[in-house]
Amino acid sequence: MSSAELSVFIRAIGVHTPERKLTNAELSTMVDTSDEWIKTRSGIAERRIAAPGENPSDMGAKAAAKALERAGLTPADVDLLIVATMTPDVPFPSTACLLQAKLGLRRDIPCFDVSAACSGFVYALQVAKDMMRSGAYRRTLVVGAEKLSSVVDWSDRTTCVLFGDGAGAVLLETTPEKNVGLLGNLLGADGNNAELLHCAGGGSAAPATADSLRDGKHFLRMNGKEVFRHAVRVMAESCERVLAKCDVRSEQVAWFIPHQANSRILEAVASQLNVGMDRFPSNLERYGNTSAASIPLALEEAWKDGKIKHGDLVLIVAFGAGLTWGATLLRWHEPPR
Ligand code: UT7
Repeated sequence: MSSAELSVFIRAIGVHTPERKLTNAELSTMVDTSDEWIKTRSGIAERRIAAPGENPSDMGAKAAAKALERAGLTPADVDLLIVATMTPDVPFPSTACLLQAKLGLRRDIPCFDVSAACSGFVYALQVAKDMMRSGAYRRTLVVGAEKLSSVVDWSDRTTCVLFGDGAGAVLLETTPEKNVGLLGNLLGADGNNAELLHCAGGGSAAPATADSLRDGKHFLRMNGKEVFRHAVRVMAESCERVLAKCDVRSEQVAWFIPHQANSRILEAVASQLNVGMDRFPSNLERYGNTSAASIPLALEEAWKDGKIKHGDLVLIVAFGAGLTWGATLLRWHEPPR
């Protein structure tokens, strides 16, 4: 059989979230906000905050270890590692290399990061699929791991209420079976709108200095209203385009798993697609926006809750800084619990 005929499916999934919960009530003692405002405008009630020294590579390693355990596999069985993150442990080396060492993966495998902010997990899935279909890699760990608490300005009420920390991982595997796993996808980007959601300092263009630290250049900044507008439009369009590409109607999709950014964004996307919110599972209330970790966290929960079943069509869709976006249609292959 030629490798071009291989399909790629999610063999197992695992997640890890930090212990510490930060509630809206507690946030209201830090900035001028309220539980009512945050819940009404975003749907978020609490988020998880990583402990000092608990980094994306640590959370990602725990999520990946869980996926491997569920698959009944060991680190030696992994042929490729891709980490999606916008909050890498350090500027270099990659979080993937740090995670590789922590998990004890083999040294003869490629390990690298994908930088596409909240769309990172969807981007990484596609990169993995294309590398695997060549036949060179049988099993890949794709990890979304974020510590957004480290880039949030805790005095900026317009952003600090929205984000949280966590990690999710999937173990992808190739199979000669047809019409299973990752069926079709779409990725896009618009760098002309980079400044809508960005971190101005700390990179090579503006290395950290005493002045940049004083001016808060190392914090995430966002034009929430504009980002909201773009998010609804491109997430709905991405779903429609990937469904058309796969010749699938939205009624045939059992579950939509969107990037968990804001419940009002999810409602607007569902409404544009003419799909009921009962097919849009969400855990935003408990985790907030965890960027590249949000889709695997929501996917794992929907599967563990018994919503997603073997053979279901699932459409995941993301949007984030860049701007970036992406959608993947997959046929679920029941993974071990
Ligand atoms: O992962 C992808 C990236 N992020 C997103 O998808 C986020 C997209 N954007 C959003 O989710 C929403 O735009 C927000 C939740 C960020 C803001 O909601 P909004 O309905 O667009 O509110 P707004 O920015 O228009 O602010 C309305 C009011 C303003 O007061 P004035 O000017 O009307 O007096 C804000 O200053 O709410 C005020 N406000 C707050 N009040 C209490 C902003 N943040 C807060 C806050 N608590 N935390």
